[in-house]
Amino acid sequence: MAAQPDVTLNDGRAMPQLGLGVWRTPAETAASVVTSALDAGYRHVDTAAIYGNEEGVGQAIAGREVFVTTKLWNDDQGYDETLRAFETSAKKLGRKTVDLYLIHWPAPKKNRYVETWKALVRLRDEGRALSIGVSNFNADHLRRIIGETGATPALNQVELHPRFQQRALRGVHEELGIRTESWSPLGQAQFLNDPTIQAVAKKHGKSPAQAILRWHLDEGLIVIPKSVHPERIRQNLDLFDFTLDEGDRARIAALDSPAGRIGPDPMTAAF
Ligand code: A2P
Repeated sequence: MAAQPDVTLNDGRAMPQLGLGVWRTPAETAASVVTSALDAGYRHVDTAAIYGNEEGVGQAIAGREVFVTTKLWNDDQGYDETLRAFETSAKKLGRKTVDLYLIHWPAPKKNRYVETWKALVRLRDEGRALSIGVSNFNADHLRRIIGETGATPALNQVELHPRFQQRALRGVHEELGIRTESWSPLGQAQFLNDPTIQAVAKKHGKSPAQAILRWHLDEGLIVIPKSVHPERIRQNLDLFDFTLDEGDRARIAALDSPAGRIGPDPMTAAF
């Protein structure tokens, strides 16, 4: 298998472009799922306080060199609350430092994401969170935190898959020097039987999931597919012996739809 690529963040740090996502991975199986991924060669795991599985992730990554991301839950927004929530997450993960700490949602109705961001900047300055970023932020949220603090997030993790490609937001990220990370990169497996995806996969002798994940990599996105099955976990890493061509990418570009969002809209989400 060819080497897995890293991307360089705007703070100069390297991050493996592909990682294992553990949203909806039950707490009681997280340690074994993550262990099977690390044994298969994954070097990056993405969790969050709200997933309830940081302890299991922590057991699996103990003593291993793994890039670990976790996220601050909405109820913990606020300056002091954030500092406390970070300590709880770091403890559960069994780490003094976290490679990447994200604000999980902007939660605009709370209007606390600027002070929350200031706490993340402090955690970075103290060397506790080695890189900091956000999730589910729109262009206005990004410009506001940068305007008020002068600190630019390393990345924004957003829902992104062939049905919802976030082209406009990605343009803003490029302008601001922010990396884009795709959550639910497989569209939660809802369109693995899409004829275009199937055709691209077949052409390369790969599965539909592999074709979609290769698309993310070729688009320069950071990608964190979730699976609890060791066989699929291995399959989702077996992406480094092919690339999509211009024609494949044009066909997948045409699948983008304004109605393609699967998850909550960050502007109107109840939390
Ligand atoms: P499972 O965990 O049972 O393997 P996303 O990362 O977009 O949220 O997608 C996750 C969903 O896709 C899960 O339901 C997961 O199921 C499924 N999945 C992950 N990898 C594959 C694969 N290689 N083939 C088929 N389904 C997959």
